[in-house]
Amino acid sequence: MLNLIIADASLETIPIDLYKHHSFKKIRHSGKKPDDILLDRSFHHFAMVATNLDNRHKRGRPDILHIALINALATPLYQNNLIRVFIHTINDNVIFVGSTVRIPKSYLRFEGLMLNLLKNRKIISNEGQILLEMRDHTKFDYLLREIIKADIVVGLSTTGIYRKLELIATDLLEFSNPCMVVGGFPKGYFSDGVDSSFNKKYSISNVGLESQVVISRLIYEYEKNVLA
Ligand SMILES: C[S@@+](CC[C@H](N)C(=O)[O-])C[C@H]1O[C@@H](n2cnc3c(N)ncnc32)[C@H](O)[C@@H]1O
Repeated sequence: MLNLIIADASLETIPIDLYKHHSFKKIRHSGKKPDDILLDRSFHHFAMVATNLDNRHKRGRPDILHIALINALATPLYQNNLIRVFIHTINDNVIFVGSTVRIPKSYLRFEGLMLNLLKNRKIISNEGQILLEMRDHTKFDYLLREIIKADIVVGLSTTGIYRKLELIATDLLEFSNPCMVVGGFPKGYFSDGVDSSFNKKYSISNVGLESQVVISRLIYEYEKNVLA
């Protein structure tokens, strides 16, 4: 079974210091709380810059996770239960993605789903099945060693050594529980806690690609080896 972690994903609610910024005045008056809003660079850019938010080049892009999940969960690999998907967020929260999840195509509905998950920690289907489950403050290393129990961890990054993706996917066949890691953030590099846990780190192109492109290509290359 292949494991995929979308790491350092830009998914979080409004940090409290940002909420105090004057650009949030109307929102504060509307009664909305920080936990009711996802940090989104397209609306909160000014406040993120004005408050000097740490690591802001990597934050406020939940749409990246949305598109990445839509792509990953639409694949035959996922539909045949041959891949497990995990999300590790920029704030060290981990989200377990169940095996029968359908991510809403509408971003508005995805946003509502994520806010619900961040508040209630679980999304349960009408049949009582856990679709998404969030665990707070779960170090990346703990996820790998104690939860996934990966026998190899391969990170994909522009800072890795170049290797053809087709060969990377074939290498994985030597392992029973391999884990691939792709970033779920727009710019910059993996956090130290993530980067230091890779056994191998590869680049697959001489240009930077978007997360969903990397994920789709990786899954396709792996599928060629395990699905007829
Ligand atoms: C938008 S990029 C993040 C930008 C970052 N500067 C980078 O190149 O890794 C999102 C993710 O896609 C993957 N990625 C993008 N381009 C890649 C490449 N040429 N080789 C391997 N992985 C890549 C990485 O996992 C990266 O974290």
